[in-house]
Amino acid sequence: MTARLIDGKASAARLRARVAAAAGRLAAEHGRAPALAVVLVGDDPASQVYVAGKVKATREAGMISHEHRLPAHTPEAEVVALVARLNADPAVDGILVQLPLPSHIEADRVIAALSPAKDVDGLTTENQGRLAGGRPGLRPCTPAGCVVLARETLGRLQGLRVAVLGRSLLVGRPAALLFLAEDCTVTLAHSRSRDLPALCREADILVAAVGRPGLVRGDWIKPGACVLDVGINRVPAPERGEGKTRLVGDVAFEEAEAVAGAITPVPGGVGPMTIAALLRNTVLAACAREGWAPPADLETEPAA
Ligand code: GUN
Repeated sequence: MTARLIDGKASAARLRARVAAAAGRLAAEHGRAPALAVVLVGDDPASQVYVAGKVKATREAGMISHEHRLPAHTPEAEVVALVARLNADPAVDGILVQLPLPSHIEADRVIAALSPAKDVDGLTTENQGRLAGGRPGLRPCTPAGCVVLARETLGRLQGLRVAVLGRSLLVGRPAALLFLAEDCTVTLAHSRSRDLPALCREADILVAAVGRPGLVRGDWIKPGACVLDVGINRVPAPERGEGKTRLVGDVAFEEAEAVAGAITPVPGGVGPMTIAALLRNTVLAACAREGWAPPADLETEPAA
């Protein structure tokens, strides 16, 4: 058996089209399109690529993009002051501070400065608490994208067993809570968990988000399971020439493909969903702040 490939690019394109339609309707009804401010501090190459992608996708969806690029040595207080200005700016609906920040800046302090109403990454304590409590709020983008892919692949998720590997603030923890909100039975596993392979083999949906290339082997996977690989790891690829690299996920793809029912490739699986979910959050943030009716086809999980 060979697993079905989950086409994240196609799913993301569909979600982006719905977001663009919603943004167009809002602009026609209310005289302005939703606006996203992106803050990038320093010149981390991967972050440059991600931010360029976010800016381009925002514009392509008919929304307004404000870009703030600050030099790597910018003091923390200046980043916090910029966030405070963006919080107060009525023309800005969403604020994204690209992570990681340079090491002299405490990410927690910058995140704490974000207005929860504009926190389109869902990283503030307020939005984390809302998610944990099953109340409405802005949800982290990558795990929200995972839920969309799982729903499109499997339909109703109620009662399914989910194993999430990795307990990061950006992906693992919120993924566990988002699948719980779908009435799944969730195991949140991490580097100290005992017998990871056995935990994974129980799962109808396996979400790998640890940042370790090829950690999840074929025999960790329940036959027929849906595998969502969030890992984006750059590894040497001497077969492509000296000094060349390639991107791989946290799942040993060829092994997993032979066992799983469906699997996301890396790249082209979960990755594209992150930006689509970010655009969706920007529209939802604009609606919540302005008191506009949120487009029904952009709603996320049902309220608990
Ligand atoms: N760095 C890698 N992924 C993300 C993300 O989803 N949001 C932010 N702010 N930074 C990131």
